[in-house]
Amino acid sequence: MKYSTWLKKKDLEYKNNELHYADINLKKVIKKYKTPFYIVNERLIRKRYKKLKSILDTNYKQNEIHYAVKANSNLAVLKILKSEGASADCSSVGEVRSCLKAGIPAESIIYTGNMFTNEDFEFAVKNDILINLDSISQLDRLNHIYEKLDKEKLPLSFRINPEFGAGHHSHTITAGKDIKFGILDDQVIEAYSKAKEYGFTKFGTHIHIGSGILDPNDFESAFNKYIDIVMKLADTLDIQLDFIDFGGGLGIPYHPEEEPLDLELFIKKLISPINKLLERGDFGNPIIKIEPGRFIVGEGSILVTQINTIKDNGYKKFLGVDAGFQTLIRPTMYQSYHHIIQCKQKNGEKEEYDIAGPICESGDILGKDRKIIEPEEGDCLVILDTGAYGFTMASVYNSRPRPAELLLNNGNIYVIREEEKYKDLFKHQKIPKHLK
Ligand SMILES: Cc1ncc(COP(=O)(O)O)c(C=O)c1O
Repeated sequence: MKYSTWLKKKDLEYKNNELHYADINLKKVIKKYKTPFYIVNERLIRKRYKKLKSILDTNYKQNEIHYAVKANSNLAVLKILKSEGASADCSSVGEVRSCLKAGIPAESIIYTGNMFTNEDFEFAVKNDILINLDSISQLDRLNHIYEKLDKEKLPLSFRINPEFGAGHHSHTITAGKDIKFGILDDQVIEAYSKAKEYGFTKFGTHIHIGSGILDPNDFESAFNKYIDIVMKLADTLDIQLDFIDFGGGLGIPYHPEEEPLDLELFIKKLISPINKLLERGDFGNPIIKIEPGRFIVGEGSILVTQINTIKDNGYKKFLGVDAGFQTLIRPTMYQSYHHIIQCKQKNGEKEEYDIAGPICESGDILGKDRKIIEPEEGDCLVILDTGAYGFTMASVYNSRPRPAELLLNNGNIYVIREEEKYKDLFKHQKIPKHLK
């Protein structure tokens, strides 16, 4: 793919040597807002969601896309996806609350917690949120809470660990015998039969094998094994499943050389085991759910940062910028590649620089050996594909307040999160009397 086409697919384009995002000249945005800041692109998010939804609809009508809120939980993003008809996948009470605040109804939320507390269960049960359990032992506590609150039991599911995992980094592979998530094949019958004994009558199943998967073949073994487990479950316990959830994990091309995920092939890998199930004729019509996060929002955001220091130690050149791993942790945490480009397009000789943040750790490098043309202090750089696990993983490390999030739509710029102020750093701190 031509480089300019690759950029255009991400809604980025140089016009008169100035970088435009969603047809807005970034110079205009930089003039108005203090760097660093994230910019979310509404039309790109809608586009990615619609594309996925239409491929799913063509292949299996009874489907629901549960957007994985952990990727980007800004209320504006949730509202955009709600207006597209998305359901939500949440991993904490905070995420469930965000969805409810954004107007996503309780019945569209699935709560896949990890290490649930009783408080988590109480909140979910009180608010009629479907729970996807992560261990058999949690079932006793959940049942107790349903009884204590005298609430009608909602459908229940367990996260099944199909033992075949994949992902862009070992930390994002979420299936396998030594991985903390879900229940293994030989625990599934016990889990659901116990749930039946407790009086649960409606069920679903769930897997999520990892994150950032670009090769559809990586899903195949897990999906096949999953459906074999589902069939065994249905046969052994005479259970009709309301839904079968395949999780998320769909990757995006962070690097210009990477091929995007072949969506048609991904859906084929998902639908062919389902067809095997439906061919039996006794399985009803379960809803097929998927839970993409990165695929929907990853490409729909950039991070704009300003160069403040150009440094050549005689051995290596560094561009010091005002974003760091407190703003975007993926490069440090996962050694992830994020493409970095200049706001001003320049003609000249390319030189290699490490793009370094202001954090007091040598791991605070946003990009290694990047080719940049004639940079100047005060110039801005754009870090691509920061919409997923960007702001949601940001911190205030080194006592640096978190940046603003802006939204671009139809030529307009909206602030969807104000930049934090220094006073926010002290908001929840208390000084004991003897130290005053
Ligand atoms: C249970 C579950 N579902 C969905 C996702 C979304 O993954 P991705 O953003 O890779 O699609 C995650 C990510 O960790 C997850 O844990």
